[in-house]
Amino acid sequence: MSFSELYIGLMSGTSLDGIDAALVNLTDDCVELVAFEYLPFSLEIQQKLQQLSAPNAAIFLQEYGEMDARLGCLFASAVKNLLRKKNLSANAITAIGSHGQTVYHSPLGRFPFSLQIGDPNCIAEQTGITTVADFRRRDIAAGGQGAPLVPAFHQAVFHCENETRCIVNIGGIANITVLPANENNAVIGFDTGTGNVLLNQWIQKNLGKNYDANGAWANTGKVDFSLIECLKKEPYFHALPPKSTGVDYFSLAWLETHCDLKKYLPEDVQASLCYLTAMTICDAIVKIAPETARILVCGGGVHNAYLMNLLVENAPCVVQSTADFGLHPDHVEAIAFAWLAKQTIHQKAGNLQAVTGANRSVILGGIYNSGCNSG
Ligand SMILES: Nc1ncnc2c1ncn2[C@@H]1O[C@H](COP(=O)(O)OP(=O)(O)O)[C@@H](O)[C@H]1O
Ligand SMILES: [Mg+2]
Repeated sequence: MSFSELYIGLMSGTSLDGIDAALVNLTDDCVELVAFEYLPFSLEIQQKLQQLSAPNAAIFLQEYGEMDARLGCLFASAVKNLLRKKNLSANAITAIGSHGQTVYHSPLGRFPFSLQIGDPNCIAEQTGITTVADFRRRDIAAGGQGAPLVPAFHQAVFHCENETRCIVNIGGIANITVLPANENNAVIGFDTGTGNVLLNQWIQKNLGKNYDANGAWANTGKVDFSLIECLKKEPYFHALPPKSTGVDYFSLAWLETHCDLKKYLPEDVQASLCYLTAMTICDAIVKIAPETARILVCGGGVHNAYLMNLLVENAPCVVQSTADFGLHPDHVEAIAFAWLAKQTIHQKAGNLQAVTGANRSVILGGIYNSGCNSG
């Protein structure tokens, strides 16, 4: 029997909805969720993060630094809630893997970088648990895009030798991982483009709601194919992987530069954005992995029934939730960062070169020690 260790994964994605924290029992061949905690962001935090990650945001370094520290404290409280829930002490946990909050992702500039905030020093200090963070920049330093990083985890838990599978994560940005049946064929993973982010921003602007619950508003509109034609001209959708993107790119500003939104009913725009999300995912699968036999979906987008219907209608194969394969769709990303922390602690690589475009496999992240003297 292989050795088991407890890890905590922390994820707060580009949707800016809140912090996912997963307490996970990991062995060499098994991933078991022990507890999960969701800490929603207050409206104030959401707005500040939106300002920080807006394209060409003009911000003061003081605000940036304060938000970094403040998020670090929030991540630490999510961890403490988990420990309390399970009545565990800090020393029961081998390490935390904290993704951080991305405020800028620029993998293709002259000086590529990806910036996540949520100070891991605060997390380690306040929880007394060794914390692994800053996962993306080592891959970028090795010539990669720093994203996506979850495909190695997807491969570990969802690979099947009898069929090629595609894992679709619909967070703020949508990304896919192709897991070829034949393990000798490289895993492919990339961001397909917009996920929930435009859906959230458009409903916020028009109805003042954070998100379109169940896709109910989109359901009152209809897809406008002239709008889709304009939006699909975006070169990102046609570029070959490796590729990754962020909310600093896919934002309302992006939408406004592609079309004259005044020409359309707001609910038709919402319906069309759902269609765009579903179709960019389906197109990518048909183009890159036509042999895909099954799509497993995770991320908050699974709760948008209108979007999911479009995905099912247009997908080239059967679509299922990751829940059917043992992991609840809301938990996958946070669990992935617990798994990535384990890779780092065990001095194993976390990136897949074929996915990120890095010139070598690297051990990801910085390790912030618990500060507890074990001697
Ligand atoms: N009941 C729901 N109906 C429609 N959309 C939902 C629902 N629940 C969550 N979502 C969408 O999922 C998003 C959160 O997804 P998540 O996977 O956490 O994304 P990220 O990783 O970017 O934080 C929300 O912002 C919202 O757009
Ligand atoms: Mg989220």
